[in-house]
Amino acid sequence: MSHISKPQVERVTIPMLQRWREEGRRIVMTTAYDSVAARIADSTVDVILVGDSVGNVCLGFENTLPVSVAMINHHLEAVARTKPRALLVADMPFLSFHLGVKETIQNAGGFLQRGAAAVKLEGGAKRIDMVRALVDCEIPVMGHLGLTPQSVNVMGGFKVQGRKADEALRLLDDACRLQEAGCFALVLEGIPAELAARATESLAIPTIGIGAGRGCSGQVLVFHDVLGLTQDQRPKFVRTYAEGFRLLQDALSRWAADVRSGAFPGPQESYRLPDGLGDAIASWTPNNPT
Ligand code: KIV
Repeated sequence: MSHISKPQVERVTIPMLQRWREEGRRIVMTTAYDSVAARIADSTVDVILVGDSVGNVCLGFENTLPVSVAMINHHLEAVARTKPRALLVADMPFLSFHLGVKETIQNAGGFLQRGAAAVKLEGGAKRIDMVRALVDCEIPVMGHLGLTPQSVNVMGGFKVQGRKADEALRLLDDACRLQEAGCFALVLEGIPAELAARATESLAIPTIGIGAGRGCSGQVLVFHDVLGLTQDQRPKFVRTYAEGFRLLQDALSRWAADVRSGAFPGPQESYRLPDGLGDAIASWTPNNPT
């Protein structure tokens, strides 16, 4: 039967993430918004997120709020066409899971039909009904707590969350409620390391930290941040492993210089006529009707 045929490469699955959490093997997640980044990421990470961060990282928006379901669909399709081995997660953008159960299921279901294996959504207690409804429809959900960028206006900016007792305790409660509602993992963003560690040890599901210290079950960073591809001021929690922007800029400017000097293209980048045809071309004269 075709639906149980053996895949050529073992794809990362949700039960695998759970097993790794139990074995203490740290999970690595990054973003991808196109097929080039997806292929680079898939050579090494466990989870690829088509994040709504595409809005500020690639589309020139100030924050993630203008990102729509259609935009995520467009980028998700590009990533899904690469058939990644990594678990592919689609981000539910602002207003795609707030208006009602039916619309939430349609939006998330559309992501799964386009190749995602799961969706991620921001928020705690207020979103529990939507999480339950999705899980009931066999749509795996990754939760996201702490500095949730879609709440930028409520938070009054991109500020570390959970530094006050009531905030910290609410986050721990929310984490438990999301687990209980069926989330298979939680992203913990922009919270003190001690709080993330406490949440991680209290939960059975994996936590994936971003600006949440090393006590999580895994880590996520935006692809462009790891590779130094943006010029924006980088948050404290980012560690950059390449100065990608400068590297690519330098390569492109060397090519531009070669074009301007005539050094590009050379014989090795040019096509040649077959022997004998050169004479025919040389003896050709324009046939201008008078
Ligand atoms: O959209 C995104 O990139 C995210 C990650 C930073 C977790 O939500």
